[in-house]
Amino acid sequence: MDRPSPHYLWRSRWAFVLAATGSAVGLGNIWKFPYITGEYGGGAFVLLYLLCIFLIGIPLLVAEVAIGRRGRGNPMDALAHVAREGGASRHWGLLGAMAMLCGFLILCFYVVVAGWAFAYTLKMAGGSLAGSDVAAMQAIFADHNADPLQLGGWSLLVALLTLWIVGRGLQQGIERAVRWLMPGLVLLLLVLVGYAATTDGFAEGVTFLFRFDASRLNGEAFLAALGHAFFTLSLASGAIMAYGAYLPEQQSVVRTSLIVALADTAVALLAGLAIFPVIFANDMSPAAGPGLLFMSLPLAFQQMPWGQLFGALFFAMVSIAALTSAISILEGSVAWLNEQHGISRRRAAWLLGGVLVLISQLTMLSFNQGAHWTLAGMTLFDGLDYLTSRWMMPLGGILLALLVGYRLRLDLLRDELHLPRALYALWLILLRYVSPLLILLVFLHALGWLGFDPLQRWYWVAGACMALALLGECLTPGVRSLYRPAPR
Ligand code: PFF
Repeated sequence: MDRPSPHYLWRSRWAFVLAATGSAVGLGNIWKFPYITGEYGGGAFVLLYLLCIFLIGIPLLVAEVAIGRRGRGNPMDALAHVAREGGASRHWGLLGAMAMLCGFLILCFYVVVAGWAFAYTLKMAGGSLAGSDVAAMQAIFADHNADPLQLGGWSLLVALLTLWIVGRGLQQGIERAVRWLMPGLVLLLLVLVGYAATTDGFAEGVTFLFRFDASRLNGEAFLAALGHAFFTLSLASGAIMAYGAYLPEQQSVVRTSLIVALADTAVALLAGLAIFPVIFANDMSPAAGPGLLFMSLPLAFQQMPWGQLFGALFFAMVSIAALTSAISILEGSVAWLNEQHGISRRRAAWLLGGVLVLISQLTMLSFNQGAHWTLAGMTLFDGLDYLTSRWMMPLGGILLALLVGYRLRLDLLRDELHLPRALYALWLILLRYVSPLLILLVFLHALGWLGFDPLQRWYWVAGACMALALLGECLTPGVRSLYRPAPR
């Protein structure tokens, strides 16, 4: 019961890979990954993060692309269609609606951070980031944020650029933009890693990123790693599913998803290799928190030969990465208005843009006039980040895993994935047991019901359940039924 292709598909073989990698590679890789790696002590965290990417991230990424392509529509429509086809309720489409809403809420604070990157590109190039110590850089950052006109102006610029590109359409807008932006990003990143390799801190940076220190492994690091795996792969926000809908039939879902996930991981690690050596060469702490990129790094660049140039290149790269992610977030909702309500793409983009500009401007006020508007101690900015990455993304992830693992006909997506049977069964087992259980741990933690000690009995109980479930799975007809020919 294949659906007809939507009126447009990616034009070239690499377009999906570039666009989806553009979505995945963003502020999460260059701003968040380095600072959380710094906070959780380096190599041990990196290992946990890689485990989460492989055990949970990639299986869900594959599921999203496959459902997008099978459903051939915006996330809500695609999910409803695939659910019906697989024998589940159409109401699963609401999961798509939640994902699009989650993406939209992310976008409302994402454009503010992206605005920082755009502003810092200019400030760095213009030499106005002059300060002799971290305190001086903090003051510059605080000044920038205290001025709603400046901060609002930059967020508005990012929002308008995003709307303009998405409004132009898939091929003329998104495909064209990523064709230039992504190679540019990779080039800049390589130049910056090359530059970092010439600094005294390079060896220390490499050791920090890759030395495995088991004493730093703990539950909290695991939770941060899992949350970040969702964010960095753009999962459960509608973006990947929306892009998957345009994937041509002959392109392999699994292979392309793997390329996207590996490219995303490579960029995060390379960003770490570009940043930590510069930090160490200047005797700074890698654990500076969210300010690492906007306070420590500009200072470090300033103290290095050619620092102004490389600093400006660095922030230009962050801006590009943020823009290609922002674009992907909006695509699902624009396609939804377009397909479901017959509104032209351009109008849909500007309509959503109106709401986006309104909320993102309010969000930007969290750093100045609206700093005292708090709920449960959180500003609007913090609240949106918390709501989406702690709740909505994991919730979307667990529901998607349950849908594919338990509600859909087990063999439904086999036609999409073209995997050897054993690998297909492995994918299903990961979605049936590993992802839901590990995500459940995140919820228990968010509710405050879980301590951080990895040796705490909860982890053992979860591990034992998982092992039992896997054993049961091998002995019962569930996944084994896959070995029978698919009903036609
Ligand atoms: N993956 C992006 C990043 O790492 O910055 C963030 C993101 C993009 C999240 C698109 C969600 C999304 F739909």
